[in-house]
Amino acid sequence: MDLTGRDFLKLLDYTPEEINYLLDVAARLKAEKKAGAQPGQTLHKTSFPGKNIALIFEKNSTRTRCSFEVAAADLGMGSTYLGPTGSQIGSKESIADTARVLSRMYDGIEYRGFGQDLVEELAKYSDVPVWNGLTNEFHPTQMLADMLTIREHRGDLKGQKLVYMGDARYNMADSYMVVCAKLGMHFVACAPKAYWPNAELIATCQAVAAETGAMLSFTESVPEACQDADVICTDVWVSMGEPDEVWAQRIHDLKPYQVNADAFRYAKDDAIFLHCLPAFHDTNTKIGKQIYEKYGLTEMEVSDEIFEGPHSVVFDEAENRMHTIKAVVYTTLGGK
Ligand code: CP
Ligand code: NVA
Repeated sequence: MDLTGRDFLKLLDYTPEEINYLLDVAARLKAEKKAGAQPGQTLHKTSFPGKNIALIFEKNSTRTRCSFEVAAADLGMGSTYLGPTGSQIGSKESIADTARVLSRMYDGIEYRGFGQDLVEELAKYSDVPVWNGLTNEFHPTQMLADMLTIREHRGDLKGQKLVYMGDARYNMADSYMVVCAKLGMHFVACAPKAYWPNAELIATCQAVAAETGAMLSFTESVPEACQDADVICTDVWVSMGEPDEVWAQRIHDLKPYQVNADAFRYAKDDAIFLHCLPAFHDTNTKIGKQIYEKYGLTEMEVSDEIFEGPHSVVFDEAENRMHTIKAVVYTTLGGK
């Protein structure tokens, strides 16, 4: 398997074998990191001294940014963070020009932004690999972390039932549907019908599922969705870049789809809970407090009981962001 020079824009572009290969490499890099570098040796078999990567973030980030920065450092590379303000990107300089400039200085470019078309445009004009660090449509590096976490806790991915509860029209749910289709899993979107993924993406994923033996289902019923689930996951009800005005409607529509003890009652006893984070599970955040003051809710997409309870593996998942992002950078830059 050779992924040298490849962009990583969405998992639809990758075969099941390539996705599994990235997970295998991530698991190996994770074990190597845990073992630590031997005296006089690099942490990993291949390192990239003298190489540099650019990290463009048009939206905020904790995990994704830190993962790319730590991965770069572990691989002997430099990294430059370009945040939502402070660079020329978008205001004075187009994506196409930015791509051609950064390709002259860097060996890879991470991009987090709004439409998927922007990261695709960046890749079109870039001479070096471009990695999608989240768009409105997809969050592919998050999927690798989640799949590695499921593998670690529940074994072979094929046939596992993954239930997504909440707004199933956005980057997280859409990405789960894609990865489950690719890897022969059972994806269930559990949400009001108006929040199901768009018909075109469903059709694309159904065609993939027909090849891999995956199952895709869509339901408004929590008991039906969660029955015998291996994994239950969710995401914030309002994503970065969406207007504050949508909160009231979202809370009204999605509150019945909160991941809580009732949902887990139907799942397998050892089912796990995943959340990409950040999560609203208490009032210890600025937005959490505002929502409490305005709507009286102390927890939103996930109850604090589930978030802090034995099913939750969200911090393993967060750690795996780094190992899996490192695998993407490593393999696309030619690491073996
Ligand atoms: N899950 C995730 O992408 O987190 P950040 O927004 O902190 O990068
Ligand atoms: N759906 C969320 C994911 C955050 C990692 C957002 O786009 O804000």
